Amino acid sequence: MSQQREVIVLIGSLRKASLSRKVANALIELAPAGLRCRIAEIGDLPVFNEDLETDAPPSWTRLRKDVKNCDAVIFVTPEYNRSMPGGLKNALDVASRPEGKNMWAKKPAAVVSVTPYKLGAFGANHAIRQTFVFLDMPAMQQPEAYIGEAAKLFDDDGKLANDDTRKFLTKFMRAFSKWIDATRM
Ligand code: FNR
Repeated sequence: MSQQREVIVLIGSLRKASLSRKVANALIELAPAGLRCRIAEIGDLPVFNEDLETDAPPSWTRLRKDVKNCDAVIFVTPEYNRSMPGGLKNALDVASRPEGKNMWAKKPAAVVSVTPYKLGAFGANHAIRQTFVFLDMPAMQQPEAYIGEAAKLFDDDGKLANDDTRKFLTKFMRAFSKWIDATRM
């Protein structure tokens, strides 16, 4: 039996009614027993500025600890202008520093991108994957997760109300659990 893994979930959208947050909540609910998942909030991180390192903002320290102490990371994000939202890139930057203390290194990662449109979410997904090279994060390749027409998937309480998506997200989380076991050092 695989061991218990601590997984943090970062959400690229900061708005309250975010579809990405609903997808993140569904992923957490559908995670297999071996994964203990929780959201690591990123909305209060000051924009990265190396000058602030002399007295690092408490929210930067919190995120750095969250990343350091976890076994794996899931990124759930909308696409902004065919890329990732700035807030998510900021979180990636914050926990990659100070120099020589890249907290993301060797953490297995998965990406789920979300759009209310039929097409979209590819650009954000792959912009995040591009950072994994320099951050040294082993990224799960399959299954890929581009969640289209996301507004149609949830009921009025924000709960997942689509069986195909439930099946897919369950499969995704099982695959990620195996990926963590295969790559976690
Ligand atoms: C968007 N949206 C968007 N959607 C998409 O599929 N591709 C894109 O390139 C963009 N670009 C974009 C830029 C900006 C600045 C905003 C605010 C929005 C639409 C976006 O997918 C939609 O607003 C989602 O609902 C945002 O995700 P959350 O907040 O629901 O998680």
